[in-house]
Amino acid sequence: MATDVAGKTLEIRLAVPEDFSAIRGLMATNALLVDGMDYATFTPPILLACDGDRIMGFVQAILGKPYSVISEVAIDRAYHNQRIGSQLLHAMECLLKGMGYTTWIGFVSGHRENVQERVEHLGARCLGEGRAYMKVLSEY
Ligand SMILES: CC(C)(COP(=O)(O)OP(=O)(O)OC[C@H]1O[C@@H](n2cnc3c(N)ncnc32)[C@H](O)[C@@H]1OP(=O)(O)O)[C@@H](O)C(=O)NCCC(=O)NCCS
Repeated sequence: MATDVAGKTLEIRLAVPEDFSAIRGLMATNALLVDGMDYATFTPPILLACDGDRIMGFVQAILGKPYSVISEVAIDRAYHNQRIGSQLLHAMECLLKGMGYTTWIGFVSGHRENVQERVEHLGARCLGEGRAYMKVLSEY
C-alpha cells in the first residue's frame, strides 16, 4: 500500500523481524522505552511507513475482542506533524476492520498532552484518567 505524505509517496507495509531494531530505535528516540521491559520481539500486526529502506514510523496493534489495543505508535522525530502517524493509524484501522475487529483502545501517558488532543482529533473518545502498570512474569 502507498500513501502520499508531504509530497513523498510512502510505502505502508507489514513489519518482519529484521525491522525490530528500527522499531526499537523509533521507540528510544521518542522516549517510549520502559525500564525493565523486554523489547526483543514484537508481535504482529505492525505496520511500517517506509521511504525506500528508511523506516519513518510504525504502529502496532494487539488484536482481540471486545477491543483491540493500539499498543505503540511512533514516528521519526524529524518527520512529526507530516500526517505519517494519522496515515499509519488509518491503515491499521482498515486492517482491523477487515479482520472483524471494530473497536480499539490505547493508553496515552499524562505528560503527552499533544498526543491526547491528537487522538481525540482523530475521533477517539477519552475514557478517563488512569495509570499504566507492568508486571514481568519471569521475576515471580
Ligand atoms: C503522536 C505521533 C505518533 C503523531 O504522528 P504524526 O505523524 O506526528 O502526527 P500527524 O501529523 O499524523 O497528526 C495529524 C493530525 O493531528 C492533528 N494535530 C496535531 N497536533 C494536534 C494537537 N495538539 N491537537 C489536536 N490535533 C492535533 C493535525 O491537525 C492533524 O490532523 P488533520 O490531518 O485532520 O489536520 C508522533 O508525533 C509521535 O511519534 N510522537 C512521539 C511518540 C508518541 O508520543 N507516541 C504515542 C505514545 S502513546
